[in-house]
Amino acid sequence: MPRGIEAGTLASVHRTYARTAAFALLTALASAPACGGSDSDAGEAAPAGPVRPPPRPTAEQEARASALLTGPDWYRHAVFYEVNVRSFQDSNGDGIGDLNGLVSRLDYLKGLGVDALWLMPIMPSPFADSGYDVADYRAIDPAYGTMADFERLLGEAKARGMRVLIDLVLNHTSDAHPWFQESRKDKTNPKANWYVWSDTPSRADIGCGTNGSTFGDSAWELEPAREQYYFHRFYPGQPDLNYREPAVAKEMLDTTRFWLDKGVDGFRCDVVGLLYETATSCSLVPETVDYIKSIRQIVDTYPDRAIVAEPVELTNSTPYFGGGKDMFHMAFDFAYGYFWGIAFASGDRRIIEDAMNTASAFPEGAQGALVIGSHDVLRAWQSAGTDPERYRGAALLQMTMRGTPFIYYGEEVALRPGAATPIDVRDTARTPMTWTRDGAGHGFTTATPWLPFGEAPAETSVEAEDADPDSMLSFYRSLLAFRRGHPVWATGASRFVPIDDRGIVAFVREDDEESYLVAVNLASEPREGTAPSALTGSGRVVLGAGSLAVGEVVTVKLPANGYAVFQLRP
Ligand code: GLC
Ligand code: CA
Repeated sequence: MPRGIEAGTLASVHRTYARTAAFALLTALASAPACGGSDSDAGEAAPAGPVRPPPRPTAEQEARASALLTGPDWYRHAVFYEVNVRSFQDSNGDGIGDLNGLVSRLDYLKGLGVDALWLMPIMPSPFADSGYDVADYRAIDPAYGTMADFERLLGEAKARGMRVLIDLVLNHTSDAHPWFQESRKDKTNPKANWYVWSDTPSRADIGCGTNGSTFGDSAWELEPAREQYYFHRFYPGQPDLNYREPAVAKEMLDTTRFWLDKGVDGFRCDVVGLLYETATSCSLVPETVDYIKSIRQIVDTYPDRAIVAEPVELTNSTPYFGGGKDMFHMAFDFAYGYFWGIAFASGDRRIIEDAMNTASAFPEGAQGALVIGSHDVLRAWQSAGTDPERYRGAALLQMTMRGTPFIYYGEEVALRPGAATPIDVRDTARTPMTWTRDGAGHGFTTATPWLPFGEAPAETSVEAEDADPDSMLSFYRSLLAFRRGHPVWATGASRFVPIDDRGIVAFVREDDEESYLVAVNLASEPREGTAPSALTGSGRVVLGAGSLAVGEVVTVKLPANGYAVFQLRP
């Protein structure tokens, strides 16, 4: 069985991803020299020194934040955190992170400023694709704990005002799932039609089936017992479910009800555009759109739940929102999330500008989910070309652009990539969290971790960074505290400011109460630029470093890879 994505394929994952022109650029990123280079006057453009916002939100801000996080609009105001449960915290000394371990770290997450969690798959799985190969949709993998542990996690999160979304893998199951075990036996068993079968390794009504699977090889695997081939969009251990079989469609809707009844606050829906195939397309075809609408209808019968889509296409998630209230509440915005590193490496903002323009046309209520890393792509540390200032600039954009930020675990300490790849190259971004400086297990485990730690585990430990006011962790805490209780960042209008230097990204966020200008310099040298945008206000730096002159023409000055938030109102 092909275990793996070809060595040398960097971030990647989806074949669709590999098809985009941007992928080539992304692959080139690792070797791309930083643009600009060293300048003797580096930093001169910054008249003001860094201004640190208060590290903790005030009681007033905190009260306001809790109010904003209550009610149906909560998902627009929340800061999410993607947890790879397996790599977060081991509680029973077997080297594998688990639910009880996660519970023990909820206070840490709360202190960081996290409002909601997205848990990567926690259902029983042979782990052919890191849990994205589910063998039972209504149970917890014993490596992570029990259903009682999961219920306790929900209760403990709720007690802290935090929400929990789980990963829902609808498109395919594991080949170890009893449904598939039955389906594969012969052509007449009760589950015979639950998967996508064919006499030949292709099918005219499945247009994408001839292109190969996302992971490279043929999308069809011969099942000798049945003398037929089954369709798998991902690894052979992940047969696609046949949604044209009514029993399958019903079963998976019942599964969503099962977890909503348990009390989850929603789902992150894995490759959800791929549920149905047609001869001409396999992505978000009308049948899939209708199915998503039926999921939304179920979700809407529970109060304050939210669902987030993982789009197939990487440049525009608009189709996942439907009319704004009938499909997804949120969809990942990969146009920024997967490609920001290219913008920094080239010192050219156009990728980010396009992402912002696309997002500004989302229907009312819809919200992009903003990432700078995930379990599928490079650690942000690599995308930033190992430059901490670029990293901070990217995180600042993630937290201030219109959208809901999703932090990938360990991003707040700038966790570095690992080297071991038991499944595929994506494992480099899935290494265990490092909590303490010392010890073989770095506070993650008392045993040997299931996957070796990434580079520099002591330096990137929470313990080491906690003590350092200039660490990435301190930066993240400040950033989230700065955002907290200010609805302008979640729902305020966003207006791009076209600075005449393409190395500078600048935009205004405003609502009735407040208005800010955010500016980030993508270039590795100080930059100054102007735009014919009439702005008024103090232009006082409230975060970062730089200067802003307002008037009929706006002038922004930033240090090399610098960033700043300027206050305009109140
Ligand atoms: C999604 C997941 C990825 C997985 C794939 C197949 O893209 O994020 O990790 O490999 O779906 O389930
Ligand atoms: Ca464990």
